[in-house]
Amino acid sequence: MSIADDPDRAPARSHLYAMGMSEEEMRRPTVGIATTWTGTMPCNLTHRELAAHVAEGVRAAGGLPMEFNTIAVSDNLTMNTPGMRTSLVSREVIADSIELMGLAHGFDALVAIVGCDKTVPAAIMALARLDVPSVVLYSGSMMPGRWRGRDVTIQDMWEALGERAVGRLDQAELDDLAKHACPGAGTCAAQYTANTMGSVADFLGLAPFGVGDIPAVAADKNAAARRVGEIAMDALARDARPSRVLTADALHNAIVSVAAMGGSTNAVLHLLAIAREANLPLEIDEIGDVCRRIPIITGLKPSGGDHTALDLWRAGGTSLVARRLLEAGLLRENVTLVDGRTLAGVAADAEETPGQEVVRSVAEPFKPRGALAILRGSLAPDGCVLKLGGKADFRHEGPAKVYDSEAECTAAIDAGLIVPGDVIVVRYEGPAGGPGMREMLSITGPLVGRGLGETVALVTDGRFSGVSHGLVIGHVAPEAYRGGPIALVRDGDTVIVDSAAGSLELVVPEEELERRRAAWRRPERVVERGVLSKYVITVGSASDGAVTI
Ligand code: FES
Repeated sequence: MSIADDPDRAPARSHLYAMGMSEEEMRRPTVGIATTWTGTMPCNLTHRELAAHVAEGVRAAGGLPMEFNTIAVSDNLTMNTPGMRTSLVSREVIADSIELMGLAHGFDALVAIVGCDKTVPAAIMALARLDVPSVVLYSGSMMPGRWRGRDVTIQDMWEALGERAVGRLDQAELDDLAKHACPGAGTCAAQYTANTMGSVADFLGLAPFGVGDIPAVAADKNAAARRVGEIAMDALARDARPSRVLTADALHNAIVSVAAMGGSTNAVLHLLAIAREANLPLEIDEIGDVCRRIPIITGLKPSGGDHTALDLWRAGGTSLVARRLLEAGLLRENVTLVDGRTLAGVAADAEETPGQEVVRSVAEPFKPRGALAILRGSLAPDGCVLKLGGKADFRHEGPAKVYDSEAECTAAIDAGLIVPGDVIVVRYEGPAGGPGMREMLSITGPLVGRGLGETVALVTDGRFSGVSHGLVIGHVAPEAYRGGPIALVRDGDTVIVDSAAGSLELVVPEEELERRRAAWRRPERVVERGVLSKYVITVGSASDGAVTI
């Protein structure tokens, strides 16, 4: 019974009258519109405007839109400690917020407007929990900046820090680049974490293909948002709820998209978390298996080539990627898309721009294998993620230089203590140990900028930004704070990374490791109260998606 017709819901009616609603509107199906708008970053700056257009579409299709907001955190703006620790934590807070609003209001359907990295998986996790017909609207990428005759993105900013450190750029040049790298609203402008997860939302079937590709500031975005409002009402009529859309086959397709588009290593965490919320079995090694056999077919920064998200949109977008993957038989077709189309229909509708150079066929890829690999071994018994970035397989053996935080390591790089051949080990940066699993941006950018990116390996229980590259291995599990072998490494120990063998080995005799294990003491918890303290207690292993219980 609707609020308008239920005698006992008079108090609720009084609040809805207070918001200007009529009884006719109270009889309509309610569509919650979750935006992850904050005025603190460019990534999600357009969400309020988009929400208004989604609401228009919902209304036109006979629904009652109800907007609400969550928090969001950008890794580029939160470098101070503890700021950078908050980003992955925000995924859980956003998921819980959307879930709570859904539980509180009992919306008949939902639209989640997402952009910055964590907001995409967070919304999908919440939608899976609530399981009402739902659509994801990815708000779109930023345009690339232009500096000294070339396209630039936030990746160039981070690497410029290292170039300044070795004198290749001066401060004035760095400041000038900062004015040009990010020319307006939208998510970071290539296949970094946000755009990786935007593509994942398409391939999961929860976001309509062809909408997320549209850049944040493009004129077509608002009309697409209105269409999403209409799609939500249609999804309600078809009962296209996440449990019918987000299936094991859809999850497989999403993993394929991450591999084929050279996506971010953060996708491993988020796919594992999404699978868990959707009650789908997924082991970290399955992601590695897919990435091992699927090449990178898009020439996007940072792994496939030099193109940006704008170039992908102009070339034909994720629909064109879907066409190429379908042609090669790499997608599972027995899936439900939230807008009622089929994958074959999406592929047929894809508009390929003649002469485009961004999306290739599987037979003639940009790189022969995916962007990441899963390794296991004595240093990571529960697995870890190697950011392969389209590189050929490699073996790196070297002496460990061990740091108990990102800051300690950054200071060592600044002091010139890192030399080619080293294996940098940065620990106590895992989900519980950080807490919050920081992105090691202040390490990877300067290493690349100093020309050390391909000559030293970085092994950490933290994670990496989508813009990071080099010989980087993250998500080492179990993490140091929980007594994983990474806690036992000492300066000078030999560490071997072997991507072909899929292994990460600490070459120390077992008896010596036993002695170190017996002497190991968990460090004092860094935070005693507040949200980070709750997170330390409830967060699980990175190898399970670092979800909270
Ligand atoms: Fe928000 Fe990159 S920091 S999308």
